[in-house]
Amino acid sequence: AFVSLRQVLDHAAEHGYGVPAFNVNNLEQVQAIMEAAQATQSPVILQASAGARKYAGEAYLRHLILAAVETHPDIPVVLHQDHGASPAVCVQAIRSGFTSVMMDGSLKADAKTPAPYDYNVEVTRTVCEIAHAVGVSVEGELGCLGSLESGQAGEEDGVGAEGTLSHDQLLTDPQEAKAFVAATGVDALAIAIGTSHGAYKFTRPPTGDILAIDRIAAIHAAIPDTHLVMHGSSSVPQEWLAIIREYGGELPETYGVPVEEIRRGIASGVRKVNIDTDIRLAMTGAMRQLFATKRSEFDPRKALEAARTAAQGVCAQRFEAFGCAGMA
Ligand code: G3H
Ligand code: 13P
Ligand code: NA
Ligand code: ZN
Repeated sequence: AFVSLRQVLDHAAEHGYGVPAFNVNNLEQVQAIMEAAQATQSPVILQASAGARKYAGEAYLRHLILAAVETHPDIPVVLHQDHGASPAVCVQAIRSGFTSVMMDGSLKADAKTPAPYDYNVEVTRTVCEIAHAVGVSVEGELGCLGSLESGQAGEEDGVGAEGTLSHDQLLTDPQEAKAFVAATGVDALAIAIGTSHGAYKFTRPPTGDILAIDRIAAIHAAIPDTHLVMHGSSSVPQEWLAIIREYGGELPETYGVPVEEIRRGIASGVRKVNIDTDIRLAMTGAMRQLFATKRSEFDPRKALEAARTAAQGVCAQRFEAFGCAGMA
């Protein structure tokens, strides 16, 4: 059944676990996540970016998720708009049946330029008024995502600030978070604590202190009733990078956020953990491997099936690791 983000994250807070929020763009990704959730009895957050709607089309996306809920009636499903760039995008999502929307006012509507605090408050408060009137949850964002190692936002063509960010911009301020929540009424808040979007987060193996854990705890203490969201939470599995390279892919050395670090984040108050890149890497690795090892194969279902199985494995691991399994 469809549920709101607030419902799922209230339960997660009560029981001290985290919920992965997986980005979806197509049939196989939706199936992989739902099958992993069914097998582990986990609640599900499916999120669609502006890029997903552009790729699949709004009606196709909506009906894929309706099919997921029909196929798995006992699994709670949140349909969440990821990185809404304006109130208009969020209203469109609500009209389309989303049960949760993110108004990302940390960046201007171009999704590239850091926005002033007052602009962020204004657009986010507007979305809260509209969404809450119809029972839809709202996630806001305060601070700019980026690696504390490099000051870079990470992604080149997706969501993220351009240029180098200052240390101040890279860490959400707890007192500002408190004021932001009071002024807007958000249910959940994405915070900047050292993660960045995409596959190129860190150039060296993480040493275990890549997340600003003390900062997470301080923000959680300042806004205990607002659910903390960690974007850029892919772990960039080295085993999938190796398979991609073995079968012709050319990806440079790169590292993500270790699952153990995410578990520390959850223990300090993180409730929603956004993951897109890991599913992309697993699916691409599986498809490359399938076509490289079965050279006479031309049925795309064989590759898509391998991709779906690979993605399902990643999702099941995250449901288990974040303490979400058994909570549906
Ligand atoms: O936050 C970014 C997500 O990974 C979505 O990426 O804009 O390529 O769909 P996308
Ligand atoms: P990754 O690129 O680390 O998977 O992060 C995805 C994300 O934050 C979507 O909002
Ligand atoms: Na989001
Ligand atoms: Zn994000």
